[in-house]
Amino acid sequence: MKLLILNGVNLNLTGRREPGVYGSDSLESINAEIARFAGARGVETAFLQSNLEGELCAAIQGAEGVYDGIVLNAGAFTHYSYAIRDAIAAISVPVVEVHMSNVHSREEFRRRSVLTEVCRGEVLGFGKNSYLLAVESFVL
Ligand code: DQA
Repeated sequence: MKLLILNGVNLNLTGRREPGVYGSDSLESINAEIARFAGARGVETAFLQSNLEGELCAAIQGAEGVYDGIVLNAGAFTHYSYAIRDAIAAISVPVVEVHMSNVHSREEFRRRSVLTEVCRGEVLGFGKNSYLLAVESFVL
């Protein structure tokens, strides 16, 4: 099994931005943990982070026939990107939406995701472990 771990806008700053909300581990070290966790379960992982909506759409389109699943933290795009939503709907690869924070306990605008309806499921609120739980969901 091959999974694409896709991170969107501002996730490159993980570890440095709002550490009280997103923790103090860098995205690089979180990705290394995900690779180890997935590897121990016989799952191959590839990683991409982009601050550009179109680049994320291209990565989602390109996943068809290449990956068995996508673990996606789209960052703030989650709340308004119909382009990313349409890209997810356009492919047959299942996508699991991830958020490190509990978006329901924060500002009102974070409660709405335009992606969830076209995703297989959603994991949120467990910090970096949200990514690991999403990977686990593919091997259960
Ligand atoms: C986030 C939550 C989003 O609301 C926010 O814009 C992010 C990160 C999370 O991982 O908790 O950038 O997706």
